[in-house]
Amino acid sequence: MPSTPLTGLPSHVTVVEVGPRDGLQNEQGVVSTADKIRFIDLLSAAGFSAIEATSFVSPKAIPQLADASEVMAGIARKPGVRYSALVPNVKGMERALAAGVQEVAVFTGASETFVQHNINTSIAGSIENFRPVARMAKEAGVRLRGYISTAFGCPYEGAVAPEAVARVAEMLLELGADELSIGDTIGVATPDQVVVVIQALTPLAPIQRLAMHFHDTRGTALANVLVALQLGIGIFDSSAGGLGGCPYAPGASGNLATEDLLYLLHGLGIETGIDLNAVVEASRFLAGVRGSAPASRYYAAATAV
Ligand code: HMG
Ligand code: MG
Repeated sequence: MPSTPLTGLPSHVTVVEVGPRDGLQNEQGVVSTADKIRFIDLLSAAGFSAIEATSFVSPKAIPQLADASEVMAGIARKPGVRYSALVPNVKGMERALAAGVQEVAVFTGASETFVQHNINTSIAGSIENFRPVARMAKEAGVRLRGYISTAFGCPYEGAVAPEAVARVAEMLLELGADELSIGDTIGVATPDQVVVVIQALTPLAPIQRLAMHFHDTRGTALANVLVALQLGIGIFDSSAGGLGGCPYAPGASGNLATEDLLYLLHGLGIETGIDLNAVVEASRFLAGVRGSAPASRYYAAATAV
């Protein structure tokens, strides 16, 4: 049978490894600071150009990442790797700058109820909180990323209109965000929706400034990646092993697993600069610490005896 090769895909993709932040923020057991540092160092060795290492948020909100400053101080910074962190307000920004991050990510959402639950303010209020953060980032020469959560659905409000995503995107771009990461926070997106949301955003920002952040709760993340690639998206967030999810939220799962994403990308002939086996080794290390197997399908296949 003649095969039809997929055309129009990017030749290179940047994979932003968010496991140390998005994964470990959900961890119920305690992962020690030393183990976090070791995990990040293993990821650095795997060849990522961008690693989201931690969050400078309120330790009351996310006690799991209360050691953000110690983690940033302890990692071996590899030249060519951008180490970033989440920052919700000026207090977080002061801590992040003192820790020497190279990028900060502010985070809001496309649905009011989620934003209220997550950062205790409205969407408009979050943008006001980010204004001085963005100014400080520009002054310090620190890159600014803007997350839009619940871009495909909200756990409280259900469906989210693409126009709502676009409105928040405009606000973050106006603040000076260098890159927007579009989040499927609860992993409900299907490929048709991905097309519609990306099409709502491309009039606002060059496609090179858009990243997709899929959680794989319902198994649609890789299908969503493929259509995003076909539309020219070249930045994807993922977590080693598919780390993440909350034992208190039945059915919740983590980000798309980095190993599964890399297997797809490399199989499509897309270059990432990342050593897939080295990511498996980072996941293997963390699995030992956590005492449970990663969710990644590739990991399961690669480590089967
Ligand atoms: P608040 O309670 O409204 O804030 O929380 P506050 O200013 O009243 O402060 C409360 C206390 O926290 C005070 O301490 C502050 O000093 C302290 P107290 O006086 O009571 O002792 N505080 C801080 N301490 C250290 N660093 C800080 C900081 N800020 C305040 N930066 C706030 C508002 C935004 C701070 C809080 O709700 C918060 O930190 N939320 C973070 C929530 C979070 O991290 N969620 C997960 C990340 S988002 C995500 O996962 C989605 C994403 O992956 C994309 C996707 O999948 O969609 C990005
Ligand atoms: Mg996330």
